[in-house]
Amino acid sequence: MLEKDILKVLVSREEIKEIAVKLGNQLTEDYKDTEPLVIGLLNGCVPFIGVLLGEIDLYLDIAFMDVSSYHGGTQTTGEVKILMDLQIPVTDRDIIIVEDIVDSGRTLKLVTELLYFRGAKSVKVVTLLDKPLGREVEFVPEYVGVTIPKEFVVGFGLDYEDKYRNLPYVGVLKPEVYNK
Ligand code: IMP
Ligand code: MG
Repeated sequence: MLEKDILKVLVSREEIKEIAVKLGNQLTEDYKDTEPLVIGLLNGCVPFIGVLLGEIDLYLDIAFMDVSSYHGGTQTTGEVKILMDLQIPVTDRDIIIVEDIVDSGRTLKLVTELLYFRGAKSVKVVTLLDKPLGREVEFVPEYVGVTIPKEFVVGFGLDYEDKYRNLPYVGVLKPEVYNK
């Protein structure tokens, strides 16, 4: 059903698994003396945080936030809203934010600044995908799975009008899907 809308696969299921293992090992090493707080940004983080957490061999806590810079469609509106906030304090915590993609950089810049403002000790970002050519504000994620061109992608958490998040790989939609 979903597959017929996909023009090409950009990051396969197998590649995503390898990325999770590599980043998970790196995080296990980098945070070995701490108990980090892993914050997933909903809804896009869900599939990736699922595979990533299993590769991090540490005592850690998990929390979620829903921050949105998109209102459907394929273009960012430049506006960032907190739709669901954290339920726990972040004071003196070492925070690892998990995101599906960094595009304009606005979402992660805002969330990082907010967490520091609330007293976080450190804030770093793990993202499955990075689209550096989409940047509108300066932002460099510390841990990147794959760097991709400035192309709109769906799957493995990424949506087009709230659909395709459950596709088990990252792909590019056929142009006719946008023109429906
Ligand atoms: P930023 O604030 O522009 O960096 O936006 C990041 C958010 O935009 C991500 O969490 C996604 O929800 C969304 N986004 C950016 N690029 C894409 C894409 O290619 N496909 C689907 N969602 C995207
Ligand atoms: Mg998102």
